[in-house]
Amino acid sequence: MTGAAEDTLRRIEQSATRRYLPIIGREKGRLLGEIVAEHKPRRVLEVGTLVGYSTIQMGKNMGGDAEIVTIEVDRDEAEVARENIRASGISPMVTVVTGDALDVIPTLGGAFDMVFLDAEKHQYLAYLRLVEDRLGAGAVVVADNAGFSSRAMREYLEYVRGSGRYSSRYIPVGWDGVEVSVKR
Ligand SMILES: C[S@@+](CC[C@H](N)C(=O)[O-])C[C@H]1O[C@@H](n2cnc3c(N)ncnc32)[C@H](O)[C@@H]1O
Repeated sequence: MTGAAEDTLRRIEQSATRRYLPIIGREKGRLLGEIVAEHKPRRVLEVGTLVGYSTIQMGKNMGGDAEIVTIEVDRDEAEVARENIRASGISPMVTVVTGDALDVIPTLGGAFDMVFLDAEKHQYLAYLRLVEDRLGAGAVVVADNAGFSSRAMREYLEYVRGSGRYSSRYIPVGWDGVEVSVKR
């Protein structure tokens, strides 16, 4: 990890405590980094940037030719994210798109090798269905809050676990967890 990325992550963690920001935090951040290191995605779609914490956790583990497209509906948070991403040194690989993911995803061209879902829990299935035909075999979809928000994510979890299109497992992290689903 570069010093700049590390410094930026620690600074965001401190401001998140003060501002009660729902960032994924250090433990899930480490898990996200491990998933990126294992799957080596060239192109990642993130839904729910907030201030860029999870974006930086992924980006610091990705190769220089990789790309992250991250979507944030809140203009002010998106601007803070751009500043944090710039400070972390990974901005050449990141595009922060401001808008509602339900509107933005259909406008994005090209395929993705990884998706990280961390916006409206009851919309996870809608986000996935909008990008699904651009995910090849082996693409990995990570959905945050699959423990804490499992009721709001019920349709999503039933789909990734029962449709036969994914090999899916729940990974507990503290009192919550993430659902990691690999496209067949
Ligand atoms: C839990 S936070 C994301 C935290 C971030 N992934 C992290 O760990 O650093 C959820 C974010 O999703 C954004 N959001 C909610 N609905 C959205 C939508 N329809 N499209 C894009 N972003 C959305 C919220 O504004 C909020 O910033």
